[in-house]
Amino acid sequence: MPASDGHAEHVAQALAQAVAALNGAADVESLRRLANEHTGKGSVLIGLKSSLGAIADVETRKAAGRAINEAMQSIEALVAQRLTGLERAAAASAAAGEAMDLTEHLAARSRGHAHIVTQAWERLEDVFVGMGFKVAEGPEVETDFHNFTALNMPPDHPARSGFDTLFVKHGAPGSNLLRTHTSPVQIRVMQEWDLPIYAVMPGRVFRRDTPDATHMPVFHQIEGLVVDKGITFAHLAGTIEAFTKAFFGSDFTSRLRPNYFPFTEPSAEFDVRSANGKWIELGGCGMVHPNVLRAGGVDPEVYTGFAFGFGIDRMAKERHNVADLRDMYANDLRFVRQF
Ligand code: PHE
Repeated sequence: MPASDGHAEHVAQALAQAVAALNGAADVESLRRLANEHTGKGSVLIGLKSSLGAIADVETRKAAGRAINEAMQSIEALVAQRLTGLERAAAASAAAGEAMDLTEHLAARSRGHAHIVTQAWERLEDVFVGMGFKVAEGPEVETDFHNFTALNMPPDHPARSGFDTLFVKHGAPGSNLLRTHTSPVQIRVMQEWDLPIYAVMPGRVFRRDTPDATHMPVFHQIEGLVVDKGITFAHLAGTIEAFTKAFFGSDFTSRLRPNYFPFTEPSAEFDVRSANGKWIELGGCGMVHPNVLRAGGVDPEVYTGFAFGFGIDRMAKERHNVADLRDMYANDLRFVRQF
């Protein structure tokens, strides 16, 4: 084919074919292959280029050479443009494939609420914090010393049998146990805090008890401890009464009845009375025994104090009219969702 004859149409045709082919490339690999096919060795355009020498007229030859170069350049530009597009699309689809759909379970999510024991626990803390107390917690696995001896119950003291307990295999036999009450936290607070002390100590306690409607082997108590100069039994009675009104309402009142605890002297049981006249027994209290103050590192000649302790579960039970304590721990959602 004489290069001068219809040379321009051949270039235009080769360019059009290249453009159509490159626009149809679906991925980077076929784009590269087609680019080579239309501009590399053996391509129509390279063939046209090598036949330029056969064009006799100088001006015609120059124009034909320029046309080939321009076609080559526009093909290169198209390849570059399509390459960017295909690479972006590939990256986007890879990202979409790897992405985690974090919204997947949103529709199925439902919001729970605190158990009635936790609700009572938190309300008790709020009321005492409002009265100027600080909150402390102690370990559930206690030493025999903190649970008994420091609370004026030395080994062989008969009152120990009233707190039938569960010992754990740790250290010397009989030296560690699941605490039977929150009173050991009194000792820890006295040993660790500066005086004066105004503390409440909620927590889980354990007794070797068979579950029935009013007893559980695992339950919760809140302990109170005040140690300051000049504290008397009147402060104890006043604090119990102020608490009763703050927690239950102003139509409630409290009373103290003589009782015995080894760690308080004198000791009392305290009850609260609702507006309908019904008395509910809540817990124990008394003036901290001098031996207990000494075990906590406090001089009983300078400081006096009072302590109290009562069951949180029982308060939740009374507040929500639960007939059987065991229902509170059966994890039956039909029960739990009522409150
Ligand atoms: N720890 C006692 C009990 O569990 C209650 C109590 C606490 C009594 C503080 C007096 C003072 O029964």
